Amino acid sequence: MEFRTIIEPFRIKSVETIKTTTEEQRKKAIAEAGYNVFLLHADDVLIDLLTDSGTGAMSSAQWGALMQGDESYAGSRSYYRFRDAVQDLTRFKHVIPTHQGRAAERILFHTILHAGDVVPNNNHFDTTRANVEVEGAEARDLVIPEGRVPGLLHPFKGNMDLPALEETLGKDGARVPLVMVTVTNNSGGGQPVSLENLRGVRALCDRFQKPFFLDACRFAENAYLVKRREKGQEGRTPKEIAREMFSLADGCTMSAKKDGLANIGGFLAMNDDAWAEKARNLLILTEGFPTYGGLAGYDLEAIARGLEEVVEEPYLHYRIRSIEYLAEKLESARVPMIRPPGGHAVYLDARGLLPHIPPLQYPGVALVNALYEVAGIRGVEIGTVMFGLRPDGTEQPGPMDLVRLAFPRRVYTQSHVDYVAEAVLEVAKNAGNLRGYRIVEAPRALRHFTARFAPLGP
Ligand code: F0G
Repeated sequence: MEFRTIIEPFRIKSVETIKTTTEEQRKKAIAEAGYNVFLLHADDVLIDLLTDSGTGAMSSAQWGALMQGDESYAGSRSYYRFRDAVQDLTRFKHVIPTHQGRAAERILFHTILHAGDVVPNNNHFDTTRANVEVEGAEARDLVIPEGRVPGLLHPFKGNMDLPALEETLGKDGARVPLVMVTVTNNSGGGQPVSLENLRGVRALCDRFQKPFFLDACRFAENAYLVKRREKGQEGRTPKEIAREMFSLADGCTMSAKKDGLANIGGFLAMNDDAWAEKARNLLILTEGFPTYGGLAGYDLEAIARGLEEVVEEPYLHYRIRSIEYLAEKLESARVPMIRPPGGHAVYLDARGLLPHIPPLQYPGVALVNALYEVAGIRGVEIGTVMFGLRPDGTEQPGPMDLVRLAFPRRVYTQSHVDYVAEAVLEVAKNAGNLRGYRIVEAPRALRHFTARFAPLGP
């Protein structure tokens, strides 16, 4: 018999108590935090969906692997185990550990970018964009038009717009040192990229002789969604599909805090010898010796094991299904959101749910704060606060105003998801009463992390 119930494919060996608070306590806490959930004390959060990054639960095999960590400064055994696990999937010649994804980005971009360069991507994640822009280069988002319309159904809304990429390479090719594709496309809703599309990017990169790098943070979720949605892929394992994804690229940046199933870590990997040498020299300057890159030997062990577990099919099935399950509950009540749901998160469409709050009054923040006040759930705005500030200091609406509910890996169970659904429905029912916000103070770059807000009156 085929069972309809999809269970968490693990049992729980160690538990962590979460704190229940009253609505009154939460209203006080969020006011003290300047109405920015990044500034809350995490103990005051009941269900934390701020991010799926570094928040997952390690397996008993990973905890066991920690004890195998070799803390030698140079040539550590744990480095070789880590390198082999990365190469087993990617086949890239050079594997450079970093303390997390953005360190890989900074090292890559500082090594190869010049002011005035252009980096095409489906959608740059915020740290990727910031690391491109800090070099004086342009981060150009070229996701397919379907990827910009929240309610529009398309199986691969993360795909690169190939004609637009061709135009960029034709017109600005001299200024493009590499092409990137983010799998899954986090800023566009955690949406997958098809193998067919990656092959198309590869063909254009060959024609214009450009290196092609993946931002591979969620490569396993992408591979599983390819298996589920792309014709001809259903019979392959996620690992086989992941290997083909990497085989189409010349290198990648990776945050092991996502599909590395680790709490910290990342890497930069590539085939090019000259770029790798420059990157390693920069790594030594700021991260550490090339066989540890700012990580402990035990972190390298945890990542190596995590990369093996993350492509296991029962895990990916449960993972993707938990997100779909939440999305189905919200869809049946017509809560506007990005459809189909992404690999790691449900993205609520705050602009659609709160049409009475204009983008420059931050509907995403209004929705995030309401979810916290009502239910102790912490989501995150991915909208005008995150993307609306231009390098010249002026403000414009972000492409969308989304609220991401990102699920830590292997942390929450189905009843947690049921609670989240109930809370979102409750907030959506009273959406008309929510008010916008104004910014009281904010830094010039990556302002969403530390900005302070004040609620606007009715
Ligand atoms: N690229 C993508 C697509 C990401 O989602 C992230 C991080 C990074 C790069 C940077 O990696 O955090 O290890 O330095 N995303 C987290 C998130 C923070 O919440 O989506 P990092």
